[in-house]
Amino acid sequence: MPQFYASCPKGMLEALEKELQELGLQTVDRNPGGVVFESNWEGCYKANLHSRLASRILKPILDFTAYQPEELYNQVLRHDFTKYIKPNQSISIDASVKDCMMNDQRYVAMKIKDAIVDQFRDKFGVRPDVENNRPALRIHVKAYKNMFSLALDTSGESLFQRGYRTEAVEAPLKENLAAGLLKLSEWDQKTPLVDFMCGSGTFLIEGAMMALNIAPGIHRKRFGFMNWLNFEKEVWEKLVTEAMDQEKQELDFKLYGFDIDRRAINMAKENASNAGVDHVIEFKREPVATVAPPAEKGLAIVNPPYGARIGDEDNLRDVYRDLGYTLKHRFKGWDCWILSGNRDLIGDMKLKSTRKHFVFNGNIECRFLKYSMF
Ligand SMILES: C[S@@+](CC[C@H](N)C(=O)[O-])C[C@H]1O[C@@H](n2cnc3c(N)ncnc32)[C@H](O)[C@@H]1O
Repeated sequence: MPQFYASCPKGMLEALEKELQELGLQTVDRNPGGVVFESNWEGCYKANLHSRLASRILKPILDFTAYQPEELYNQVLRHDFTKYIKPNQSISIDASVKDCMMNDQRYVAMKIKDAIVDQFRDKFGVRPDVENNRPALRIHVKAYKNMFSLALDTSGESLFQRGYRTEAVEAPLKENLAAGLLKLSEWDQKTPLVDFMCGSGTFLIEGAMMALNIAPGIHRKRFGFMNWLNFEKEVWEKLVTEAMDQEKQELDFKLYGFDIDRRAINMAKENASNAGVDHVIEFKREPVATVAPPAEKGLAIVNPPYGARIGDEDNLRDVYRDLGYTLKHRFKGWDCWILSGNRDLIGDMKLKSTRKHFVFNGNIECRFLKYSMF
């Protein structure tokens, strides 16, 4: 049975493994960056369509040791790349190299590219072009201490690009990170969800898609595997039809987004409409200091500015104080999860967290903290 590798944001490994298992995929291993699962190609398509947490689904193809360029070239020749695409299609190589005899990433990528295109030239007299933007075949190379691993990128563009977000505020969360945080929050998908600082609406849109059972990949037009000669179109179409049949039309609760910035609220509305979930989310321009609870109980989830990317720390102190005040005085009976990369500012809320996860938002180490408002 072929093996595939689902990568994910740091801190989301267990949640991803659980998600893949819930999709009926057999997970066999994990390492710090992702989870290995065994399945046929249908399972690979399924993971691409249904995983809310994965960043990419890769198909590992080669593992070897190489110290010299010639060795690298010959090792790559062992795998027949002509079976994936036609010579008039394009490829790209993403290489990350650490502590190797050949330590120049660009050189390694070029050598691997040479071995691949030479296979096409020998067989067809024509070779694929290199195209970094939207290649038909993207090959990921990881090399550490002269051990090389090559994998095909079945997703193409990263899976956080769901296709619904046309507009974003300055520091939006990646969609798969937002979905992963919702999973960590253990939101039951049955009670109201509030985001006090919703920005482009990522938490709420992801939450609404989960609750309505809308597959995260349903709005995407392209996946890497669709360009390949082995693409089983009927299998993919069957999965898409099944996914659409399982969507719910309505919810018996709502999701609520607030933000101080009118532009952010407009973007969030637009994005929610693109995702087909605007009928279950209410957006309103309002500062966190004055927000009143829209229901007796529910879950709030917030990604306030940290100071690292937007806003400056002194002004932000007031924002965190307002957030703490609103939670304490108006949101009794609610739980709230806060993602922040700034410990000092979290302290300004003057609340005590009851649970904590460490996650990375890009390369910023963040705390994801739970507060229960009794
Ligand atoms: C880091 S961004 C949130 C990004 C969002 N999670 C997304 O994925 O697009 C922080 C948001 O907090 C909002 N904000 C800042 N101060 C606020 C306040 N006092 N009340 C409400 N929103 C505020 C900003 O307008 C910004 O949209």
